[in-house]
Amino acid sequence: MKKTQKMEQTVILSIESSCDETAAAVTVNGRQVLSNVIYSQIDLHTIYGGVVPEIASRKHIEKINQVIRKALSDAGQTLDTIDAVAVTYGPGLVGALLVGVAEAKAIAYAKHLPLIGVHHIKGHVCANYIEYPELEPPFLCLVASGGHTHLVRVDDHTHYTVIGRTRDDAAGEAYDKIARAIGLGYPGGPKVEKAAHDGDAHAFEFPRAKIDENPYDFSFSGVKSAVLNTINSYKMKGMEIDDKFRNDVAASFQQSVIDSMCERVVMAMDEFQMDKFAMAGGVASNQTLRAALKEAVESKGGTFYCPKPILCTDNAAMIGAAGYYEYLNGKRDGLDLNAVPGLKLE
Ligand code: KG4
Ligand code: ZN
Repeated sequence: MKKTQKMEQTVILSIESSCDETAAAVTVNGRQVLSNVIYSQIDLHTIYGGVVPEIASRKHIEKINQVIRKALSDAGQTLDTIDAVAVTYGPGLVGALLVGVAEAKAIAYAKHLPLIGVHHIKGHVCANYIEYPELEPPFLCLVASGGHTHLVRVDDHTHYTVIGRTRDDAAGEAYDKIARAIGLGYPGGPKVEKAAHDGDAHAFEFPRAKIDENPYDFSFSGVKSAVLNTINSYKMKGMEIDDKFRNDVAASFQQSVIDSMCERVVMAMDEFQMDKFAMAGGVASNQTLRAALKEAVESKGGTFYCPKPILCTDNAAMIGAAGYYEYLNGKRDGLDLNAVPGLKLE
């Protein structure tokens, strides 16, 4: 495709390397995905029970050129046919982010292309624009991943208001810790979901935290401690941790997460007069959680949105979607763009 043939089309090469996925994608006008290549490092980290930052950075360096080359060729594009480069610059692991940022800067410099630094959480939210071409702001969105749990009001394509956030563990982090405690290993989310499927969600009454200062904030450390106490007292009674116990703990824990989320979402729909609700982030792959939130939203007459799992987990197409709207809004970064591991969502 020659540039002169393009009709109002912005082709973006996007890069994501904030944690343990090395990813690159090519998108058109933020919503059409020409390619979405993800190299997951999960197997490398599984033996350590979690992501090891140094290993992640090293693997990103090894893989990034290969992943970008594949993203371009799958899309039938080259570095000469793209219009801009978007890259996640935070939040995330600093060494991992730096690999993507340095790569994007090198391409932008060599090819004289605009460079757009993208907020990782905005990327997760924007995955919904890819899945639902008709979706437009304003809407509510719950971003739940291994590092974040944010309930946001998406005011327009580039501006967000944070309504609530976790005070301690992120939802995905809680899933991972519970999985480890009941001996399911890493990554915990899908394993806890599977175990919960065969368990009794009311076998144990784990707490649903309430935060007085902000009823939209989340806290998952209480439920995590309650689960650990239950496991310890079970062991002290000399009882064996068998599949039934594991499944019941997983289901009861998951029910506590579901109830906390549904309660806040329904309350926010009322208070902010929103009838559109979207989910995002790795935890949004959870089918039981999706079904419960869909039911809660639809019982209020609202519309429920949630991207397919491949767009929920870390990927670069979502960064292309967010990058496109930042680009339209005039955002351009210089070659001094840096990785910001603790980047906040204003
Ligand atoms: O968005 P993501 O891929 O990476 C981050 O930005 O953190 O999310 C990864 C997190 C992990 O904590 C993982 O356990 C969790 O999402 N996760 C799940 C499920 N699949 C992944 N949590 C609950 N149920 C799942 N099916
Ligand atoms: Zn993420």
